[in-house]
Amino acid sequence: KKVVLAYSGGVDTSVCIPYLKHEWGVEEVITLAADLGQGDELEPVREKALKSGASESLVVDVKEDFVKDYAFRAIQANALYENRYPLSTALARPLITKALVEAAEKYGADAIAHGCTGKGNDQVRFDVSAAALNPNLKILAPAREWGMSREETIAYGERYGIPSPVKKKSPYSIDRNLLGRSIEAGPLEDPNVEPPEEIYLMTKAIADTPDKPEYVEIGFSRGVPTTLNGEFINPVDLIQQLNQVVGNHGVGRIDMVENRLVGIKSREIYETPALLVLIQAHRDLESLTLTADISHYKRGIEETYSQLIYNGLWYSPLKGALDAFIQKTQEQVSGTVRVKLFKGNATIVGRISENSLYTPDLATYGAEDTFDHKAAEGFIYVWGLPTRIWSQQQNAK
Ligand code: ARG
Ligand code: SIN
Repeated sequence: KKVVLAYSGGVDTSVCIPYLKHEWGVEEVITLAADLGQGDELEPVREKALKSGASESLVVDVKEDFVKDYAFRAIQANALYENRYPLSTALARPLITKALVEAAEKYGADAIAHGCTGKGNDQVRFDVSAAALNPNLKILAPAREWGMSREETIAYGERYGIPSPVKKKSPYSIDRNLLGRSIEAGPLEDPNVEPPEEIYLMTKAIADTPDKPEYVEIGFSRGVPTTLNGEFINPVDLIQQLNQVVGNHGVGRIDMVENRLVGIKSREIYETPALLVLIQAHRDLESLTLTADISHYKRGIEETYSQLIYNGLWYSPLKGALDAFIQKTQEQVSGTVRVKLFKGNATIVGRISENSLYTPDLATYGAEDTFDHKAAEGFIYVWGLPTRIWSQQQNAK
């Protein structure tokens, strides 16, 4: 039996290697580390897998796909789970699974594996994505079944030459990629405890942010961000540069209690500077370029779309159908949005588009006004008629 294991270099995924071989009789473990811009050196990670017993150690750079095919789709959908979390972790899972499945097919493996526990959302995203992409592959999740405590896991690893973590292990569970950081556990498990400043790396504390506002201009083409301050910029650089600029002003932190798919409420801290500002700017440009009915209707689609991403249904037929709707709406969403960053706030202060539906001569209160005021009366009579009839009927009782 041959297995492709999602590998991060941490203790848990490292322990999965000997565990799969010795407890579950897997003959060959091929590891795959996906470069999602998490900022780790991946060459040591590659070597560590081999030292831990992997027969082959793959590193794949998926940063560009991550931004273009996942993050930008989510931005077009203004995707915010429970109206707040921009799905920075959730979006990475279907892409990692795609890389695992492709490797499994290439190397003739029978299964893919991951190190997720049985309590989280991530396991669902891996398993369901894999089922969608190749239903013939088995999915192995040793950490879901081994029932070892942290100490036992480390001791198990040491037996097979996996060094225990050198630094005192931070109490937090952190997932990081280009789009942001998700931080949970440790003292954060008490939802009434303020997050300590030390957990943040991408966003400054307000006390340390510049005393002058900074403006950034984001240009969109069909709902996809393509320019930064007037210059065309590739997707990965755009996210990286914007993370810097936005985080420097203390924008992009989220502290929330969220509902996991597996029924648990969990307290989560996120920092996702670029992604949040891009969604804010994109939504603003839509307000200028989409008709009222599409705008309003799309809000419901966005809610469903966000849930699909969160709940591991990226490769599902409903997601595909909603994509078709969203892409159609984005044909109009081109233009530029000006954002002012200052002391923890990102404020949209201007927007412009060739497809703008904003009509100054209808909107103005000045002399140029072309709106037919008298037409309003008849409209209101008909519009209010059901309410008037209802009221008359109530009063007649
Ligand atoms: N709760 C978030 C989500 O479901 C973040 C999960 C973070 N994962 C982790 N291993 N720390 O997307
Ligand atoms: C995990 O258990 O893998 C982390 C938390 C989550 O997936 O939501």
